[in-house]
Amino acid sequence: MAVVSARGERRIQSGHPWVYRSDVVEARAEGGETVVVLGPRRRVLGQALFSDRSQITLRMLTRGERPADDALWRNRLEAAIRFRASLDPDATAYRLVHGEGDLLPSLIVDRYGEYLVVQLLSQGVDRRTGAIVALLVDLLAPAGILARNDPRVRLLEGLDQHVRVLHGTVPDSVVVSDGTLEYDVDLHKGQKTGLFLDQRENRVAAAGYARGRALDAFSYHGGFALRLAGACDEVEALDISAEAAVRIGANAARNGIANVRAREVNVFDELRRLEKAGERYDTIVLDPPAFAKNKAAVEAALAGYKEINLRAMRLLRPGGVLVTCSCSYNVDEPTFQAVLDHAAADAGVTVAVLEKRMQARDHPVLVGVPESHYLKCFILRRVE
Ligand SMILES: C[S@@+](CC[C@H](N)C(=O)[O-])C[C@H]1O[C@@H](n2cnc3c(N)ncnc32)[C@H](O)[C@@H]1O
Repeated sequence: MAVVSARGERRIQSGHPWVYRSDVVEARAEGGETVVVLGPRRRVLGQALFSDRSQITLRMLTRGERPADDALWRNRLEAAIRFRASLDPDATAYRLVHGEGDLLPSLIVDRYGEYLVVQLLSQGVDRRTGAIVALLVDLLAPAGILARNDPRVRLLEGLDQHVRVLHGTVPDSVVVSDGTLEYDVDLHKGQKTGLFLDQRENRVAAAGYARGRALDAFSYHGGFALRLAGACDEVEALDISAEAAVRIGANAARNGIANVRAREVNVFDELRRLEKAGERYDTIVLDPPAFAKNKAAVEAALAGYKEINLRAMRLLRPGGVLVTCSCSYNVDEPTFQAVLDHAAADAGVTVAVLEKRMQARDHPVLVGVPESHYLKCFILRRVE
């Protein structure tokens, strides 16, 4: 069991699933165990996954007297899978379980066709690996399950980093579809679990505005570039990774797309060069990695966001569209919008907001849990 302070109790009652170490006054449990959580007056508040290493000591699974037993895990997994089916995704790769967003804290499950990729990001779910794999096999009968347990966050839990097949076999290369497009994905070594599934719906939205000459900056495997290609005369896809640039070319060829050109460059340098050279675009996408990985990095991150957005706004022709994203959960939507305001002012251009978007619906955002709203995506139009 674990006893929390009055502040911890208020946090749990507000619906937040995390209790930090500073709000846990007593704990009698081993790391990874499921514990009963008591308030300062010994009232039962619910059950939680306990970590003896992380700053996030408790991850709430239930409220009140409801037990966090095997039936709860099965029900929650079933509910998450049912919800994805109800979205009827026009894709064979999408997120099945999004941790806290599915009330299954620190557990990620992504589907790539007949394969599953899981991430077990706390002591609590790591300890339940066998049971989770058994449930997934029972519910989905996948051909293989891969653990992509390489995120650094596992180190904060005192867990090792590894990539390991947990069930069946998982080939080096898996082909998935997204609408009419096909991607060749390396589940073992690709970024995240192989693809950036959280941008799936934003890519479709972006394609709805795209035209003319387009630039996809921070392209990875060409997710936006390939989507835009059908609506544009030409698309330039930029990424700092040589492997990514090669894969963009391969994905374009696989889909018979001839108007996408990939370049291995640093986007910060390249935007400056393009501006100096007087190049202009009708459509630009900015989808950088999370610049603010922690609170200490926020100031530098905001400067980075402002720099690339300012340059992109100058590179846009009047009437052009900028799709600009931030996946730093330490930078909330109002802060990101303020960066865009300042960038437009300094660039000396007028822009209008066409859409404010977020991560795809298979990555649910929980009301009252701001950390769960990590991806911001603004679609802007340069008015003049
Ligand atoms: C969030 S991912 C992009 C996802 C992609 N837009 C998609 O839809 O699949 C960020 C990408 O930026 C690349 N990157 C990071 N820093 C960069 C830089 N300074 N210049 C160019 N690319 C960079 C990474 O290699 C990574 O592929």
